Amino acid sequence: MKKVLGAIMLTAMAVAIPAAAAHAEDLISVGFAQVGHESDWRTASTKSCQDVFSEENGYDLSFVDCDNDEAAQKEAVRSFIEQDVDYIIIDPIIATGWDTVLTECDEAGIPVIVIDRTIDDSDKYAAWVGSNFKTEGLAAGEWLKAYADKMGIEELNVLTISGSTGSSAQIGRSDGFNEVAEKYGWNLIDEQTGDFTEAGGQEVMENYCKSYEGQFNVVVCQNDNEAFGAMTAMDNAGVTYGPGNDVILISYDACTAGLEDVKAGKITADFECNPLAAPFVEEVINKLAAGEEVEKEVYMVEHWYALEDQIVEFEVDGAAQEMTVVTDEVIEAQY
Ligand code: AHR
Repeated sequence: MKKVLGAIMLTAMAVAIPAAAAHAEDLISVGFAQVGHESDWRTASTKSCQDVFSEENGYDLSFVDCDNDEAAQKEAVRSFIEQDVDYIIIDPIIATGWDTVLTECDEAGIPVIVIDRTIDDSDKYAAWVGSNFKTEGLAAGEWLKAYADKMGIEELNVLTISGSTGSSAQIGRSDGFNEVAEKYGWNLIDEQTGDFTEAGGQEVMENYCKSYEGQFNVVVCQNDNEAFGAMTAMDNAGVTYGPGNDVILISYDACTAGLEDVKAGKITADFECNPLAAPFVEEVINKLAAGEEVEKEVYMVEHWYALEDQIVEFEVDGAAQEMTVVTDEVIEAQY
């Protein structure tokens, strides 16, 4: 549905502004301050924006990869103000510290659209399009409870490799999962950041394997790339993971490579974070341009994935959750 919507909008724009006839002054200028390039998820997010906000669709996109540097991201936003772009898109590395620069955007009359991660200390933006990270964490926790019950596992000893500290993705996933863990009395052994990278996941897991040898039966990685690194570390340490093995391995993102590892019986369950926000951002821009009201918050649709034997019934905040069985077709259709 998301892709169909994007395709319709792309076609409509292509008809309105043929690439050959487009002049710079006809294009809508958009500045995008992206977090960085730390994960498969991020690559898909960047591609989604570059595809939608292309010149042939009537846009002049200024893209800045901020390399996970908060100061560089604020600089990028200020450079967009200098350029007097029509719209600014921000995926905030960190959830706080934004009010001053958003005030500057506001004073310059440039609407800001926040994507993916949230800004928690300012509301000076037109709209936010992204994921409910706390729901993702709650879902992972409640799934684990139902799965452990099904398998007759009574004691859960959990190691978490968290995402970039202070990002709303890390805060929400940690809050959600830890809330469930406390409710059921699980042993949360340790939580250290892998910065959403494969190298970070591997390094943290290598330390965990040394420090907590034989003491853990659950590893939660806050994105797939951390899980890839953690699997390398566990392979090297002789720790087995995935359905039926020593460790239940939980991951977030559900990127193509993550789902391939679910299908291969390595990741036990994967909780999606949907990176394809750009078509919805374009809808916001179209509405703003038409002087229409926009929704302040737009939530992406997300799914929870496992193999058939790991599918269990569970609820989040009283709502029954559906799980998707990973097949080749599902992997093929994923970002
Ligand atoms: O903000 C979304 C998170 O950031 C994704 O889970 C992760 O892969 C990315 O780097």
